[in-house]
Amino acid sequence: MPRVLRDKRIVVGVTGGIAAYKVPELVRRLLQGGAVVDVVMTPAATEFVGPLTFQALTRRPVQVSTVGVWQGEQAGHVTLGAQADLMIVAPATADVLAKLAHGIADDAVTLTALACPAPLIVAPAMDHYMYRHPATQANVEVLRARGVTIVGPHHGPLASGMIGEGRMAEPDELVGAVRQVLGRQGPLREYTVVVTAGPTREPVDPVRFLSNHSSGKMGYALAEVARDRGAATTLVSGPTCLAPPYGVRRIDVETAAEMAQAVRETVADADVLVMCAAVADFRPRAPASEKIKKQTASLVLELEPTEDILASIQRPGLVKVGFAAETERLLEHAREKLERKGLDLLVLNDARRTMGADTAQVTLLRPGQAPDVLPELPKDEVSERIWDAIQLLLELRKDSALG
Ligand code: C5P
Repeated sequence: MPRVLRDKRIVVGVTGGIAAYKVPELVRRLLQGGAVVDVVMTPAATEFVGPLTFQALTRRPVQVSTVGVWQGEQAGHVTLGAQADLMIVAPATADVLAKLAHGIADDAVTLTALACPAPLIVAPAMDHYMYRHPATQANVEVLRARGVTIVGPHHGPLASGMIGEGRMAEPDELVGAVRQVLGRQGPLREYTVVVTAGPTREPVDPVRFLSNHSSGKMGYALAEVARDRGAATTLVSGPTCLAPPYGVRRIDVETAAEMAQAVRETVADADVLVMCAAVADFRPRAPASEKIKKQTASLVLELEPTEDILASIQRPGLVKVGFAAETERLLEHAREKLERKGLDLLVLNDARRTMGADTAQVTLLRPGQAPDVLPELPKDEVSERIWDAIQLLLELRKDSALG
């Protein structure tokens, strides 16, 4: 799990809405990432999910009352908020949004929020008309102007039976928001980065294409960790099944040519380009304009090379990182690529083992340095290690610019 959550004190405030049933999953995900999570609930929230559920997950007391414990370090109702690195209210009802906007503190959630100097995230969830009501909209604007991060709500089926705006953001998106907010002041906060991910698709005819097994998982993990460290992050993504990471600008492309165009446009003001995408090296020279019929006795496809995006981008000061997914003579091919494409860092892996998997065993290669062979790790940890290496490069660059 991402490092940005590790040992962070997070308070989750749960208020009375049906979306509360999703919050144990959010809590579990935060705990998995190594955060210390305290749950506070309004009495109405306990009608939807029992405090025991959260207590069992967190192994910590769940606060429902406004009367806190005064003992040792525990200063009653203000302790939790004062110690937190972040507070998230999910689901946030219309009532709690109004209270948060106006500083009313008559339950454990709003009381803790008022006594919490750390960043606040709220995930509104309610009926469409309640959310669209000018009173609620005004409260949301007050909170936003105060620097509160508002995540969702989204459009879709609601508990009322209506379809409208009011669905709470899913736990995945909320974890993304927590990670982004916690990492805002991170080591990459002054940097702009572009990451590419996934495969490309090269059309054969209007319904067929040439592609590869890339799932996009490594590239998405790289974009997420860059965001976790505070970077302004753009993800240029080929077709994948993955949801857009929270707080990352995603540009969707299909072909190698579209990817080249998107990279050229976005890299102009970037400090780092990480080309993790498995870009097609060849494409059909003349894609058929109509579907090719199977009656054809045999079919020969003529292919032409695509543009090498990474090699074509030459800008002084830009840190260029490439990936090499090889199937044989790994190190030899990788060294050649490092040089030919003018890279600062090359991440080498075995294509047969890595594509589509959740883990990767990679070797980091830098010009003039011995290869750094990493053990097999989950892709988000591989991503952390790659950004550690890129950060070192950025520091060296800064030092040489100053010196
Ligand atoms: O030469 P090869 O395709 O093995 O190099 C892989 C690296 O080059 C990856 O970082 C990939 O994203 C990038 N690449 C590219 N444009 C291509 C093909 C690969 O930028 N047309």
